[in-house]
Amino acid sequence: MYSSRTEWHRQPNRLSQLLHERRRSGKPIIDLTVSNPTEAGFEYPAKEILASLSQDSSLRYDPDPFGIPAARNAVSAYYSTKGIHVSPSDVILTAGTSEAYSFLFTLLCEAGDDILVPMPSYPLFEFLAQLSSVRINSYNLRYDGEWHIDIDSVRRAVASSTKAIVVVSPHNPTGMFLKKNELKALNEIARQHHLALIVDEVFSDYGFEEDERRISSTAANTDVLTFTLNGISKSCGLPQLKLGWIVVSGRDDVKTEALHRLEIISDTFLSVNTPVQVALPKLFLAGEKVRKQIVGRVEQNLNFLKQSLPANPPISLLSTEGGWYAILRIPTTKSDEEWAVELLMESGVYVFPGYFLDFQQEGHLVVSLQTPHAVFVEGIAVILKRITEQN
Ligand SMILES: Cc1ncc(COP(=O)(O)O)c(C=O)c1O
Repeated sequence: MYSSRTEWHRQPNRLSQLLHERRRSGKPIIDLTVSNPTEAGFEYPAKEILASLSQDSSLRYDPDPFGIPAARNAVSAYYSTKGIHVSPSDVILTAGTSEAYSFLFTLLCEAGDDILVPMPSYPLFEFLAQLSSVRINSYNLRYDGEWHIDIDSVRRAVASSTKAIVVVSPHNPTGMFLKKNELKALNEIARQHHLALIVDEVFSDYGFEEDERRISSTAANTDVLTFTLNGISKSCGLPQLKLGWIVVSGRDDVKTEALHRLEIISDTFLSVNTPVQVALPKLFLAGEKVRKQIVGRVEQNLNFLKQSLPANPPISLLSTEGGWYAILRIPTTKSDEEWAVELLMESGVYVFPGYFLDFQQEGHLVVSLQTPHAVFVEGIAVILKRITEQN
């Protein structure tokens, strides 16, 4: 009766099961994976946000498949503050970035085609691709004191069925930003093989230090057909409002065709509700206040890690350029899952083992830098003690 696309393995993994049991038993948990800003102890400008959502014009339904002009102008203004010109007519609003991916897979892929995604990576691609009957194929990120896109692995991964290369910048969870030389190489590969670029910049407002080599946004990349994704879920700490967008750029004729097709995809669902569109200009202002708090927390936790972890084994911090996560390199005397299970069962500390984020080699734990600072300090002290005692 059901489609094979939905034939999921639904058993929770061992760690999630143990977490669930521990929660149910009421034992304390030091959760170092908090990544929902609405539950991380930030002060939201509540009146401002709620007032923006209850404006009179929210009661009118006058749908535009790409989003109402005022909202698209606000997205264009967001890029202006970064010194990037984006025409509002190249902006498409979506109900979050995840929906944007699914629109793009529908736009670009036949069933069975594939898109290239980075490895390691956050785990949503597998599901998004499956739901669109698309396959994913991975290229590697490599670490040599900083993270890079392994361009040779991108070349190797391209097949005749490949339609797009997905880049996440800064990347979740490694924090790697796309660099100018990498974009140049990706543009060449995309041009040669008629591929589109899909660049997910949801964490782009969380860069730690300036770096000349970085691309601040691909929204103005015209070398190949490029879809730049972002939204207010991360940039304004407002995931509950479900608003993302796609900026389309590329050669004029190619871009125009992509926009026409996307208009029909978007028109089929008209999924972005009116109040959030009307509110968007004001949400950018309110969101800045939330973002500043998140930036402060993330930097505080990162600085704490830099000061408290030894630079060398048995436990060290991989360098990161941005985003909400930090990666701890740990001994491979046990699997990442065994370490994570032990930390949870013996000390109540919950972290992500590397394989949750598609690390192919053991030796990685991932923690959220958004965790309330006191909890973070307590949890890291436990990890440090447990790992140094045993190695
Ligand atoms: C890299 C990345 N892109 C997109 C998303 C989803 O964003 P949205 O809430 O806009 O769907 C996430 C969520 O964690 C993410 O980590």
